[in-house]
Amino acid sequence: MTEEHNGLTRRGFLTGMGGLAAGIAVGGLGVPSSMASAGQEPVWPMPYVKLDPEEVRKLGHLGYYEGECCRGAFSAIVGSLQKKVGAPFTAIPINIMAYGTGGVAGWCTLCGAINGASAAISLVSKNYKAIVNELLLWYTQTPFPSDKANALAVNHEYLVDKYKSDKALPPSVPGSPLCHVNVSRWCKEHGYASGSSERSERCARISGDVAAYAVELLNADMDGTFAPTHKFSAEVDGCRTCHKKGKDFDAGMWTRGKMECSDCHDKATAKLVGPDHP
Ligand code: HEC
Ligand code: HEC
Repeated sequence: MTEEHNGLTRRGFLTGMGGLAAGIAVGGLGVPSSMASAGQEPVWPMPYVKLDPEEVRKLGHLGYYEGECCRGAFSAIVGSLQKKVGAPFTAIPINIMAYGTGGVAGWCTLCGAINGASAAISLVSKNYKAIVNELLLWYTQTPFPSDKANALAVNHEYLVDKYKSDKALPPSVPGSPLCHVNVSRWCKEHGYASGSSERSERCARISGDVAAYAVELLNADMDGTFAPTHKFSAEVDGCRTCHKKGKDFDAGMWTRGKMECSDCHDKATAKLVGPDHP
């Protein structure tokens, strides 16, 4: 539809209905006049205020029960900011992150808790790249659920009435930011089916744990004290001397990434790496 056509339609519409009624009708379509006015850019980064990580840990768990991992972690942070700050956060529909469930619509790629928390981070901080990188490193190296998360469940201190499981669940280190790897390792290691209520409960606790850590990082960022503390494994550093984003094709720079290479590549068994590999 051209500008002109659009203008004509709108004029006709206004003439037909009268100014006030038309204004209400336009509002009803979800186009607030303040956002529609010319030249007004949405605010970014949005004005973060410090949140309590322990409160957010509970909200992330509750958020999972309401809308699963990605939406859950996002709602713990952005929902809190909607309550504490109001606008501009209130203009964001929390459901924008609903797609991320099960590593994006069940594809089990990026863990939804990371995805949702990272979206919240990049909504409120210009430092999003470094903070999200730190969040992923921490996640891959941390046993989940955390002791704090298990204690909240055992003591019934989460914000839900009926628990999928209130047991202290055995922890596993994901090793990977992929939902598939994290879920599969934990399920196989501890004998739970991927469709079990225990698996689901663990993901609820992870949603809270990840949102809480994201808030710790954001609080430090706000204080100007954020500093990365987690490191890549020696193996990833080693492979990345040649295999990273770069211009030297012949040296191996036709790939990029920071995940644990040996999760998928293995010299000994020649799994995706030829036996004559340097
Ligand atoms: C989640 C699994 C996974 C992880 C983790 C992973 N890769 Fe891969 N990688 C693959 C797959 C699958 C391919 C595609 C293989 C193909 O089609 O030949 C690939 C391709 C590659 C290739 C090109 C292979 C070729 O045939 O030329 C290189 C080099 C490579 N990866 C290096 C790495 C390095 C270095 C790391 C760690 C920083 C890493 N990969 C982590 C799964 C993975
Ligand atoms: C010293 C540089 C260097 C390092 C370190 C290195 N690679 Fe490579 N890699 C290469 C080069 C160059 C090729 C291309 C070889 C070829 O085409 O014959 C290659 C090829 C590959 C391939 C494609 C399949 C194959 O065998 O040709 C994979 C997968 C791979 N590397 C994974 C890894 C992983 C995983 C690590 C870490 C354990 C690693 N590489 C460390 C330089 C390196």
